[in-house]
Amino acid sequence: MSRIRVALLGASGSIGLQAADVIAQHPDEFELVALASGRGGEQHDALALSNPKARSLIGGSAEDLQKLVLDCAPDIALIATTGVVGLSATVAALEAGVAVAIANKETIVAGGDVVMRAARSAAERKGTDVLERLRPVDSEHSALWQCLVGESLDRVRSLWLTASGGPFRESTAAEIAAATPATALKHPTWSMGAKITIDSATLVNKGLEAIEAHRLFSVPMEQVKIVVHPQSVVHGLVEFVDGSTKAQMGSPDMRGPIGYALGYPVRMDLGIPNVDLAAHGSLTFSPPDLVRFPGLAIALEAGRAGGAAPGALIAADGVAVTRFLAGEFPLGGIPQLLHDAVEQFGVRPAPASVAEVIALHEEVTQFAERWSGAD
Ligand SMILES: NC(=O)c1ccc[n+]([C@@H]2O[C@H](COP(=O)([O-])OP(=O)(O)OC[C@H]3O[C@@H](n4cnc5c(N)ncnc54)[C@H](OP(=O)(O)O)[C@@H]3O)[C@@H](O)[C@H]2O)c1
Repeated sequence: MSRIRVALLGASGSIGLQAADVIAQHPDEFELVALASGRGGEQHDALALSNPKARSLIGGSAEDLQKLVLDCAPDIALIATTGVVGLSATVAALEAGVAVAIANKETIVAGGDVVMRAARSAAERKGTDVLERLRPVDSEHSALWQCLVGESLDRVRSLWLTASGGPFRESTAAEIAAATPATALKHPTWSMGAKITIDSATLVNKGLEAIEAHRLFSVPMEQVKIVVHPQSVVHGLVEFVDGSTKAQMGSPDMRGPIGYALGYPVRMDLGIPNVDLAAHGSLTFSPPDLVRFPGLAIALEAGRAGGAAPGALIAADGVAVTRFLAGEFPLGGIPQLLHDAVEQFGVRPAPASVAEVIALHEEVTQFAERWSGAD
């Protein structure tokens, strides 16, 4: 059987390196045909050295990434870049018949209709379902996808995303608002890139994920629910109309969802231990607190509002997290900035093309870079 040819965008990042590990564990099943990173560095160089046949690109533009994917014609492109730099490569890959494993939230949240249209038409052409063409990598969405295999979406009552609650689960509103990067970067259960770790501390990440689920699974925002589950054992649950609920559990190891997306429908043995329920003893669940975590409330509202609001939200969040990490304001500045950006840009219609998505992203980015809190 021929190997699955994989193009890896964002190779030197947290997801990229774990994907490279999945591929390296299964050399008979996968072949890495392209590697792209931003600044590059030792990790990228090591990957390029151990995959000498793979095309290697460092610091490419959106157009370069698109060209890389189209030139090497992989079976699957894993989009693990940050920001919107991978958006045009994603759409071009779908249009060219390349399956996409999507880790990058911006692509789904900001790219919205544009990406989903490309995925739907790719699925129609291939005679597959949409999720075979656009495969979720985020652990919660992978969980929902796994629960939905063999099910019909019109029999679904709700999709539930679990949230660890982040490092401030027990903190007061004032403590959360005053938090600094040193404490916010300490995620209790997952080891991830800095941007997503801060998004997990504000719970904005869970709002972005709710929008992602709404898009990927084509269900109304109102049907996407969130529950805080500090043990990060259950990643997602699907409630069906007959009162039945399916849940997916797994160790907090992103190689699981990455392997599922790359190997689908075959499950890969990645040496990840199964969850030991008896060792956990108890699993707990509670509703999220939208007052202590105003960023989550703003993100959910942006998802419900639709139009340009999700794109404005995620663009503003990219800058807000960078400015927070640079020490320009405490954690409480992030929701304030998000609120102002969504209020200003959210009323616009949804972008209708890749160029419109990028244009909105750039405009909101500039607004967020100038934002002082007194606007
Ligand atoms: N980490 C997780 O567990 C996790 C879970 C779910 C979803 N996600 C999502 O997956 C995406 C990646 O997350 P991450 O945590 O892996 O981020 P990360 O560690 O910051 O890695 C980002 C990657 O993107 C690369 N990149 C930036 N600009 C690029 C360009 N122009 N061309 C090619 N590559 C470029 C970076 O390269 P350099 O470092 O060389 O600049 C790096 O390899 C994010 O959208 C995140 O929300 C992550």
